[in-house]
Amino acid sequence: MTEPKLRVESLEKYFPINAGLASKLLNWNADQQYVRAVDGVSFEIEPSESFGLAGESGCGKTTAGKTAIRLLEPTGGDIYFDGRQLTDLSGSELKSFRREAQIIYQDPFESLNPRFSVYDWVAEPLDIHDIGTEEERTERVYRTLDNVGLEPPSAYAGEYPGDLSGGERQRVAIARAIVLNPSFLLADEPASMLDVSIRASVLDLFKRLQRELNLAALYISHDLSLLKYMCDRIGIMYLGKLVEVGPTEEIIHNPKHPYTKALVASVPEVDPDNRRDGASIGGEVPDPTFETTGCRFANRCPEVMPRCRDGEPPMFETSDDHYTRCVLYES
Ligand SMILES: Nc1ncnc2c1ncn2[C@@H]1O[C@H](COP(=O)(O)OP(=O)(O)OP(=O)(O)O)[C@@H](O)[C@H]1O
Ligand SMILES: [Mg+2]
Repeated sequence: MTEPKLRVESLEKYFPINAGLASKLLNWNADQQYVRAVDGVSFEIEPSESFGLAGESGCGKTTAGKTAIRLLEPTGGDIYFDGRQLTDLSGSELKSFRREAQIIYQDPFESLNPRFSVYDWVAEPLDIHDIGTEEERTERVYRTLDNVGLEPPSAYAGEYPGDLSGGERQRVAIARAIVLNPSFLLADEPASMLDVSIRASVLDLFKRLQRELNLAALYISHDLSLLKYMCDRIGIMYLGKLVEVGPTEEIIHNPKHPYTKALVASVPEVDPDNRRDGASIGGEVPDPTFETTGCRFANRCPEVMPRCRDGEPPMFETSDDHYTRCVLYES
């Protein structure tokens, strides 16, 4: 059996909430409160697999992704990359992991330094990791630009981000991410800032690169139709926790958790056969500093029962490789 590329187990990331000025001045020793942005998340991603994280704004998708590759230090839990405990790595081992795992940010406008030319931007990771001679680097940068569709590379190398369109900038960001030949890519809302007319071409570029480079990927988006297009499996997050994980087809066409059902029903175009009532999710997203003993979704759930408040439900396997955190599926 091969190791998953990435496996996180009970991952946690809590952010301390700053006490107000008044309580600081008064040296008032209130208990420290936390935003429990990621509160016990487990998933794995196989080599060359695409996994998606979906859920409403603020549910912890970005924090989960960044913590999973240690761009944020976890509060708790385990992370394994190629079977090795990531939290144990430091120094040169951590640096070589940084080569293997790359991130594409949401905003191609903000993620590029305006004073760097396209060439500088794509060459920088090769400098940082001290790869190749000057000549080899140039060759590799040009080849990578060509591979992401910035052709001819010589026309793009000397350009600055200000000269480029949104789609071209995202391609530069992708070139920078793949120039080190990584094995894992985290793409956080990779198309949300792009014009609708060019989204598909950028997403298809991701797909082709994944195939050619054997890349495992974690796609994060609130947009289920994007994840449906890109992912083999999807995990649905609610308030820092996964409430459902399964193959994309199952999540979209056979959702089990009442939250997933509502989420899928709110984007009818992902499942044209979906004629469920109550497309909108009632109630408010609760505050992530909340303390609860029961199911986190209970306050908004159309199928809530008294025992939902007794304790947090575990994940139940509802069909092959499809798991749901809801007592409706307790066998
Ligand atoms: N650096 C931080 N300090 C304090 N709280 C944070 C920090 N980063 C995120 N949070 C909080 O953690 C929770 C999860 O945020 P996160 O950005 O991970 O959500 P998200 O699902 O990516 O949302 P979106 O879809 O809007 O990008 C939110 O309540 C957010 O306010
Ligand atoms: Mg986010």
